[in-house]
Amino acid sequence: MTPHPEQDGFTVWFTGLSGAGKSTLAEMLFHELRRRDMRVELLDGDVVRTNLSKGLGFSREDRDTNILRIGFVANLLTRNGVATIVSAVSPYRDARSECRAQIRDFVEVHVHATVEECARRDVKGLYQKAFAGEIKGFTGVDDPYEPPQSPEIFIDTMVEEPDQSLERILGSLARFGYIADGARLVHEAAEHSGLTDLDGAIGADLAGRHSAAEADDGDAGAAR
Ligand code: ADX
Repeated sequence: MTPHPEQDGFTVWFTGLSGAGKSTLAEMLFHELRRRDMRVELLDGDVVRTNLSKGLGFSREDRDTNILRIGFVANLLTRNGVATIVSAVSPYRDARSECRAQIRDFVEVHVHATVEECARRDVKGLYQKAFAGEIKGFTGVDDPYEPPQSPEIFIDTMVEEPDQSLERILGSLARFGYIADGARLVHEAAEHSGLTDLDGAIGADLAGRHSAAEADDGDAGAAR
């Protein structure tokens, strides 16, 4: 493999509700950057919660811990020249701001869809459970989501197809000087990286183990 010592690191941070489309776009971007022979890493909330953040639940404190851990790793990668993609609900503005303050080259992407639309898609079947009260403290249902006030990129997945969103993201990254070519290079369906929870299996398992209400009762991290 050819090393690319000239590559400058940056972090693209996808934030938004579960089911808004973060992982889909993160996957697509991952393959585009790989195709450019860049060193790329993808940190996905669901996946990180199976290792680095294993045992954390969904109270505000646990979510903040999770996000600051992801930010810490993203910073290490970024300053070592890696193109780093984060896909995590990251519902609290303060935690995101802390990550932004640490990471010099930070591109925040707000992936928006309304709760109603995410619930209609319900890729992981979690909204149905949240509305039925089987999962407590679900973001957007009975737990807050604080939207970014000035993200570098805003994506409305209710009006835009993933292809269009990806093209806008690539265009922005080229304008910011992080990639040389903002055009789409990957046109075929790419193999799943295995770095995101696209089929929702991990998310469903997490929801079964933790709920924010349990965590707030002082039962943080307890598995059933
Ligand atoms: S964050 O709030 O700490 O940023 P993170 O992105 O790591 O969240 O994990 C969110 C994922 O966990 C969701 O995509 C979903 O699959 C699953 N999940 C399980 N319970 C919840 C919950 N109460 N709120 C939000 N997501 C949940």
